[in-house]
Amino acid sequence: MKRGRPALDPALILSELSKTSSKWLDITVLEQVDSTNDLAISQISNTSHGSVFAITADEQLKGRGRLQREWHSPFGAGIALSVSIPTEFFRCEISAIPLLAGIAANNCLKNLGANSKLKWPNDLMIEIKSAELKKVGGILVQRQDEYVVIGIGINVDLGEDELPTENATSLRLIDIQASRETLIASLISELEKVTALTAKDWTPLYIKDSSTIGTQVTVARKAESTITGLARKVLESGELLLDTEDGLVEITSGDVIQVRTTQP
Ligand code: BTN
Repeated sequence: MKRGRPALDPALILSELSKTSSKWLDITVLEQVDSTNDLAISQISNTSHGSVFAITADEQLKGRGRLQREWHSPFGAGIALSVSIPTEFFRCEISAIPLLAGIAANNCLKNLGANSKLKWPNDLMIEIKSAELKKVGGILVQRQDEYVVIGIGINVDLGEDELPTENATSLRLIDIQASRETLIASLISELEKVTALTAKDWTPLYIKDSSTIGTQVTVARKAESTITGLARKVLESGELLLDTEDGLVEITSGDVIQVRTTQP
């Protein structure tokens, strides 16, 4: 217990996982870590070839976000989970794995009753008011040798004063009570399920849950450049296809700023 919040119960995570069909039972639970992704990457060479393992922690001191950002994980208030998976387990293109991880995490939030959506590529968003989205979670996928480390952060119990920006929210702030142990088990189980998806399977699932496709967006890319257009679709590679005034452009990475919804 720290600041009134209990530590994760490893036995409860395993017992929740045993209620799912998941066979991914190698889970390390820590009180504190710099970054679960960094730790997972450093442990890949010590694990038996072709195996899956997960690391989670009550608190991260140097959590990493996409695009060199930080991720804030105060003790006991959220999920900080990294799952290391051999790339050969997936049936999609490797570059699409971040989007599949988004589908998996979004399924878990929907199962809790959240009206959650995916902002390309994999920000976990909640509709607060009509068309106002706030971020409740994020995903950082890193490749190391023949593995991907899928890092998922979700704000579970954070109060307003603990949120890093005003564009962030937590499950508690939208009145969803969630057990962190159950959510971790559900994330691992859903990740295992999405490994089986081919491009034909995952693209419609992604589009159904996307807050980006079909909307007019500006994408902030590296080197401070931005590009605006209609987000037409996601490609099998996971890239976003933007219809701009200069023609179709495939976006590999960047930050989507939603401009307006063009569909009712
Ligand atoms: C983002 O939205 O920018 C991605 C955030 C990813 C945060 C998670 S928390 C668990 C894992 N460990 C990290 O250091 N980062 C990811």
